[in-house]
Amino acid sequence: MSDGEKPDWRAANRARWDEAVGVHLAPGGYDLSDLRAGQGRLNWIEEDELGDVRGLRVLHLQCHFGRDTLTLAQRGAEVVGLDFSSAAIAAARALADDLGLGGRARFVEADLYDAPAAVAEPAAFDRVFVTWGAINWLPDIAEWARIVAHFLKPGGFLYLAEQHPAAFVFDDTAALPSGLPGYFVPYFSTEPLTFDNPRDYANPDATLLHATEHGWIHPLGSILSSLIDAGLALEYFKEHPSVTWRMFDCLVEDGRGGYRWPDKPWLPLAFSLKARKYSSKA
Ligand SMILES: C[S@@+](CC[C@H](N)C(=O)[O-])C[C@H]1O[C@@H](n2cnc3c(N)ncnc32)[C@H](O)[C@@H]1O
Repeated sequence: MSDGEKPDWRAANRARWDEAVGVHLAPGGYDLSDLRAGQGRLNWIEEDELGDVRGLRVLHLQCHFGRDTLTLAQRGAEVVGLDFSSAAIAAARALADDLGLGGRARFVEADLYDAPAAVAEPAAFDRVFVTWGAINWLPDIAEWARIVAHFLKPGGFLYLAEQHPAAFVFDDTAALPSGLPGYFVPYFSTEPLTFDNPRDYANPDATLLHATEHGWIHPLGSILSSLIDAGLALEYFKEHPSVTWRMFDCLVEDGRGGYRWPDKPWLPLAFSLKARKYSSKA
């Protein structure tokens, strides 16, 4: 774990996520109608990039209450979802049963850093799937990358789609007179970012009581170097001018279910990559 780690980051973040699950399952939260109709959809970026998962074993790290995990199961993958929120895992299991996907979906309650012991299936997965608001909750990106590599079969790959770390330097609560977000923290912050944020990303009308959160900015160089050091080979890396939720108040709909800057694509808001585990190390 990093030196700057706060002793209570895990408990505070877990309490926040446990509460957020209730918000996301209530009216105004996540829309599950496609999933319940047997036609779950991912965001357009993953739809364009992930590829066919039929017959594949997929590990979804930080799976929340399993919407995307179960979408992949509906497409014929055999999935394992892992999350440290007991509320999220209970909801994921209930949803899997509701949808008749229990036979193809297993959900594990564990901290990401305990995943190797909790899942206990090394080198067993064709895909590790990690998306949208996951790695910013983790203090140690190098250890995360080693865990991803631990689970992949040789030749299997990580698919990662995330908010761009460059966008983390901005903050709506320090908005500029133009309405654009002001500056928040430096890109190369090494300390955890600890602040009170009662806003929920899915339901802007909700107010979270467990508002304290601890997060980390992982610069692109750290993410890519960590994956390479863990034995993965980058097959592509893309930057996107849109992100999948209204990350800042000034963002406008991009016409594909995401949000972009209002006038020009000033800076990337998201990135995605595919990194394959070597069949044998050269
Ligand atoms: C933004 S959500 C992921 C959202 C998911 N991509 C989706 O669209 O449903 C982040 C998830 O990370 C989980 N999480 C945060 N820190 C974690 C940790 N240390 N170990 C395991 N899960 C963690 C939270 O419980 C939460 O469900």
